[in-house]
Amino acid sequence: DMYMDRQNSLGRDYSQAADRDRHIAALEKVDAEKLTSGPIIGGKLKAGTNPQPVTNPFDTTQILGHVSEASTADIDAAADAAARAQVAWDRKGGAGRAPVLRAMADALEADMDRLVALLSREAGKTLNDAVAEIREAADFCRYYAMLAERDFGGPTELKGPVGEINQLVLHGRGVFACISPWNFPLAIFTGQIAAALAAGNAVLAKPAEQTPLIAAEAVRLYYKAGLDPNLLALVPGRGETVGAALVSHPGIDGVAFTGGTDTATLINKALAARPGAIIPFIAETGGLNGMFVDTTALKEQIIDDVILSAFGSSGQRCSALRLLYVPHDAADALIEGLKGALAAQVVGDPTDPATDIGPVIDADARAALDAHLKRLEGDAKIIARADLPAGADKGWLFAPTIAEIPTPDYLEREVFGPILHVCRYEPSKLKETASKLAARGYGLTLGVHSRIEAFAAEVTRLVPAGNVYINRSIIGAVVGVQPFGGEGLSGTGPKAGGPYSLIRYASEKAISNNI
Ligand code: SER
Repeated sequence: DMYMDRQNSLGRDYSQAADRDRHIAALEKVDAEKLTSGPIIGGKLKAGTNPQPVTNPFDTTQILGHVSEASTADIDAAADAAARAQVAWDRKGGAGRAPVLRAMADALEADMDRLVALLSREAGKTLNDAVAEIREAADFCRYYAMLAERDFGGPTELKGPVGEINQLVLHGRGVFACISPWNFPLAIFTGQIAAALAAGNAVLAKPAEQTPLIAAEAVRLYYKAGLDPNLLALVPGRGETVGAALVSHPGIDGVAFTGGTDTATLINKALAARPGAIIPFIAETGGLNGMFVDTTALKEQIIDDVILSAFGSSGQRCSALRLLYVPHDAADALIEGLKGALAAQVVGDPTDPATDIGPVIDADARAALDAHLKRLEGDAKIIARADLPAGADKGWLFAPTIAEIPTPDYLEREVFGPILHVCRYEPSKLKETASKLAARGYGLTLGVHSRIEAFAAEVTRLVPAGNVYINRSIIGAVVGVQPFGGEGLSGTGPKAGGPYSLIRYASEKAISNNI
């Protein structure tokens, strides 16, 4: 059976000297290289006129390479080439396209040490997070290859009146713009492209401004895997310029976006204003993710899962835990446990295998967290902050923080980073408390810790979420295991890494033939 025979990608073990040595060698190589990113069109990297430095978020004095922004002429040229190449790609069908995606997965794994080094340097990923991200990228490619074969293998015969042949055929829509975030600069970047390609589309990919180097690397790997370079162009740049030009370009037939809720709203408006076209929009955005605990749950397990969910990846996951709801009777003991667990977290250089929590991405991210912390210091209660290492001010480290908020509706919006808000609640007022969270309009991840099924079921009913996690952490959805994506302010609904992922990238044609 194709679901049960499938295997997810494997990783590295940094407790082993051999894996550590390879890691250090790859880091030294990446540091020496001075990488270049910019528009890649028809397989060729264009030298830009005004290249900007790309720096290390842990140490902003380190310049990793340079990036040039794509111009509107670049976008025109890329869209033209993509539209022409897409026709033959679509005709190949799923079986013709799947081998390229599988070769891409192999190429990612073959380059794992180099990609770990790059992810760690450019995006501040810890080694374990970097490895997990590369595995996820490879998983997306293999999973969508499987779906391409399943869904794009030829017409589905439908039952109709005698004498009539009825068939349903899936095709690519044309050229997709894939706009991806810096928090998963490889997995989401690669995954969006893989989904669009698997469904028979060509792609113009815009990586986040902060992470253009890893994106250029992924594009090169797609070419190495055998993809016709005209099917995939890289168009790096700012959202206000390149992003805006892309989504209003007449050559773009669909948009896949992962990033902030506000940006998704802007894109939606731009798409609505496109004359003569209604453009499909796949958006995965932020979350105001809560976890509800009751007095039957196991304290040690809650603490482990909360620390990982709130502070893993420096809290820079859309799935990350923002709001922990603890019942009054269990609150003091839990808060004590969380304090101890936070103190044991190592914050620092993400390229060091001992580090648990690395920097946040840039000056703006740190400033937003600093501003939120000020507010918390004023009208909430800071419970604990982790220690920062000496020399932390050379980059964007932010001390992970636990704060107790005075009311369940204290937090209105997602705050992106390592701040956990704890809220005491009265079990008799569960419904009221949960409804306040639901009223914020997000719907991404939701956690429950309880030994009582009825409690988990009630929380699940009360709070909208695309991904519900019971008695475990709420981050790290695995391709094909936890299809990922939310609703409401959290996205337009389609899942990444699920059995229906490709449908929104495709057009369905029903053909009735009265022979
Ligand atoms: N897919 C990631 C997770 O599940 C979030 O973007 O944590």
